[in-house]
Amino acid sequence: MTLHQCRIARDCFLHGALLACLAGWVVGCSNEAPAGVVMGGTQTVGGTAAGGAGTGGNASTAQATGGSAAGGAPTGGSASTLQALGGTTTGGAATGGSASTFPAAGGNAAGGASTGGNATGGSLPATGGTGGVSSSGGSAAGGKATGGSVAGGSATGGSATGGKATGGSATGGSTTGGTSAGGRTTGGVAAGGIAAGGVGGTTSNGGAGGSILAGGTTATGVLAATPPMGWNSWNKFAGNITDTLVRGIADAMVSTGMQAAGYQFINIDDMWQAANRDSSGNIVPDGTKFPNGMKALADYVHSKGLKLGVYSDRGTKTCSGRPGSYSYEAKDAQTYASWGVDYLKYDNCSPAAGSNIQTDYTNMANALKATGRPIVFSVCAWWFYNWETSIGQLWRTGTDIKDNWTSFISLLNNNGGWSSRYSGASYGSPGLAQYAGPGHWNDPDMLEVGNGGMTDTEYQSHFSLWAIMAAPLIAGNDLSKMSAATKDTLTNADVIAVDQDPLGVQGKPISTSTTLEVWSKKLSGTQTYAVVLFNRTAASADIAVTWSSLGMTSTSATVRDLWSHTDLGSTATQYTATVPSHGVVMLKVVGS
Ligand code: GLA
Repeated sequence: MTLHQCRIARDCFLHGALLACLAGWVVGCSNEAPAGVVMGGTQTVGGTAAGGAGTGGNASTAQATGGSAAGGAPTGGSASTLQALGGTTTGGAATGGSASTFPAAGGNAAGGASTGGNATGGSLPATGGTGGVSSSGGSAAGGKATGGSVAGGSATGGSATGGKATGGSATGGSTTGGTSAGGRTTGGVAAGGIAAGGVGGTTSNGGAGGSILAGGTTATGVLAATPPMGWNSWNKFAGNITDTLVRGIADAMVSTGMQAAGYQFINIDDMWQAANRDSSGNIVPDGTKFPNGMKALADYVHSKGLKLGVYSDRGTKTCSGRPGSYSYEAKDAQTYASWGVDYLKYDNCSPAAGSNIQTDYTNMANALKATGRPIVFSVCAWWFYNWETSIGQLWRTGTDIKDNWTSFISLLNNNGGWSSRYSGASYGSPGLAQYAGPGHWNDPDMLEVGNGGMTDTEYQSHFSLWAIMAAPLIAGNDLSKMSAATKDTLTNADVIAVDQDPLGVQGKPISTSTTLEVWSKKLSGTQTYAVVLFNRTAASADIAVTWSSLGMTSTSATVRDLWSHTDLGSTATQYTATVPSHGVVMLKVVGS
């Protein structure tokens, strides 16, 4: 068939005898099969070519299906109001369809590359291409874009403006999370590959699975990409908080080296509020305790390079009886944002009659997002619920910590173990560690280090185990009056680096023994692990860690002691340390 004949055949489409014409021109058009074109009419099907390119149909109101080619490159159809489907190819590259109001599906390629569909303004999704060596996600303006999926190749997530973009998924390949401007992005998922977190949007979650996980980032910086570090007033001061006290703590955070060690948040817990809202329903501070107001206090904290947190509750009253945020979520979130608040701890007392816990927490999460200010949302519902992982950057996994060994152990077992390992632990195997990652952390509650109810050795254990669990490090002591031992514990850079490792893995106990324990946490870097040897017994004892138990393939490894800050050289197979009663030896181990 000549090009002239092809044009004649294409003209057949315009006059309606579609199937007959298709049969006529497809066979001979070896280089190019042109698109069917129907303006304002019925479905069009793109051309088909063996060894050439099939160009998709175009329709302004009906469905357009892309061309298909064996060994060539088909282009998807385009439709202005209805569905457009991408081209299909074996061995070539397929480009997805594009549609302005309804869904566009990506091209499909076996062995080639496929690019996702594009949808503009559609409420329905643009779906990424499938298959091939690489596939890119669809893109949607105002809609939802889902990334491509691929076996053995690389998949790039969808991108959305104002919508939700979900990362691609790959088996054995690499996936990059979705990208979204103003929307929500979810990172990619890889089985056996590399998953990178989503980028942009109001919130973004890191990827899951794979050998390397990179955290999600937001356009303005990562929101809790590593576990939050700061100070909270409750453990030491309870309701005895004032503007003067908080400013003094901010000063001490800087002068003691805590800020340089990574602590950022100055969080004011319960009892900062006046007993009642003002006549317009605004939440207001207790004027005796905070005579300068919260905006002035936030400005002071910010002037030190620190961030300010406040506290509220999903019910009608806080746990200490001050006004809760129930039914005032949007108003309170706007108030906090106008003050420059950076962190909200949200408690679980006095639920309103007939209210639902998930709805109440979600309402505040959405209200915070609607302010446009990045505000870390700390869910304090005392218990782990699955839905918390998608609305908060951290969530409590147990009851209130007390400044004693029994309370510390109980919270440790609950947050870091699972019910078949420790009696009294609440969560089944594989435990809560699976939910931790950049932007979302299990919270076994604030630190008691330095408050006097435990020995310095026990506080070292508390701090080390919180760090290996990638727990938030929120100091709860008086920073202006710290002993040297307390300061050394809270500012131990080697231990803090374990907590803040960008991989964001929550470490777990790996020993059979539950009394002379070995805990392990994968760190970023090849064959790099943090290890805690923890002695729960009343007498000192030797505890050994073997390299194979860490999952390491090397037979020898270099060892650094993170409390003595000493490099111990290289050892073969294992390392054994004598660990004091209630104490730890904490190591960084790198296979060599
Ligand atoms: C609850 C929380 C604590 C603290 C108090 C304040 O008990 O779990 O962390 O915020 O309320 O009243």
